Amino acid sequence: MRLKADANIVILTGAGVSAESGIDTFRDSGGLWEQHRVEDVATPEAFARDPELVLRFYDMRRAAIQTCEPNAAHHALARLQRAWAGQVTLVTQNVDDLHDRAAATAGVEDARVIHMHGEHLNAWCTACDTRSRWRATLIERPACPACGEAALRPDIVWFGEIPYRMDEIIAAVESADLFVSIGTSGAVYPAAGLVRMAGEAGAQTLELNLEPSQGSHWFDEARHGPATRLVAQWVEQLLG
Ligand code: NAD
Ligand code: APR
Repeated sequence: MRLKADANIVILTGAGVSAESGIDTFRDSGGLWEQHRVEDVATPEAFARDPELVLRFYDMRRAAIQTCEPNAAHHALARLQRAWAGQVTLVTQNVDDLHDRAAATAGVEDARVIHMHGEHLNAWCTACDTRSRWRATLIERPACPACGEAALRPDIVWFGEIPYRMDEIIAAVESADLFVSIGTSGAVYPAAGLVRMAGEAGAQTLELNLEPSQGSHWFDEARHGPATRLVAQWVEQLLG
């Protein structure tokens, strides 16, 4: 897969890129959607019906994420972000901050990480629409730092809600020379549709995943195996 020096690369990651850091994926065996029903913990209706159950689920997720470290796949991507500064857009479906931490460790100035499903480290005030960095629990319904209302919820995109920054994501995909999908099952739209958009816009497309995903057939090339090995090898190939 040859690339011109000024090529633009869009990378889409899913839960699989963080699996080897110890964060459960959603649809692998034993994954989160076998432990919890989506309808109980990942929809606006669930939050309205039983906010404490939803907030306990996110406390558990947040605690798990905060004990984890970026793995070799995150660090390899950070190397790429640094070497191809400004030409790599990293779109993640993950709400963890492992890409951000790996980029900071690598000294990447402008990491351009787009969290299309939100971030577990943020709380979103539904009264004043402010997003605040928030590491503590929300179970006691604390006051919003901006407006004082007890209207904070996890800054996570739930089923039935619209992902963040889709305009930026679509603009990056439509001007990509290479689109790489890493560690996602291709089960959830619109993330799962980005590969077709990239291909139709003329990009080369590559899937790096543990096993064939629901969208493997849309890719020019698909490599299967653990992200820590595949991503490090791919970045090594690109950077030499
Ligand atoms: P969708 O149609 O985009 O995705 C539905 C997917 O949810 C299905 O493909 C299935 O894989 C999964 N799903 C639904 N019920 C499930 C269950 N009981 N067990 C396991 N998996 C289940 O969902 P939507 O409601 O149309 O979502 C619209 C938007 O919400 C999407 O654009 C997506 O970005 C966002 N979203 C966010 C989350 C999240 O937890 N952050 C989860 C899904 C979707
Ligand atoms: N290396 C590479 N890929 C892996 C690894 C690994 N070590 N472990 C698992 N995978 C792959 C699985 O084969 C699977 O295809 O990662 C994918 C994980 O898929 P999901 O669990 O469905 O996670 P994801 O694709 O991120 O889910 C999309 O659904 O519930 C919503 O908002 C949630 O963002 C999430 C979205």
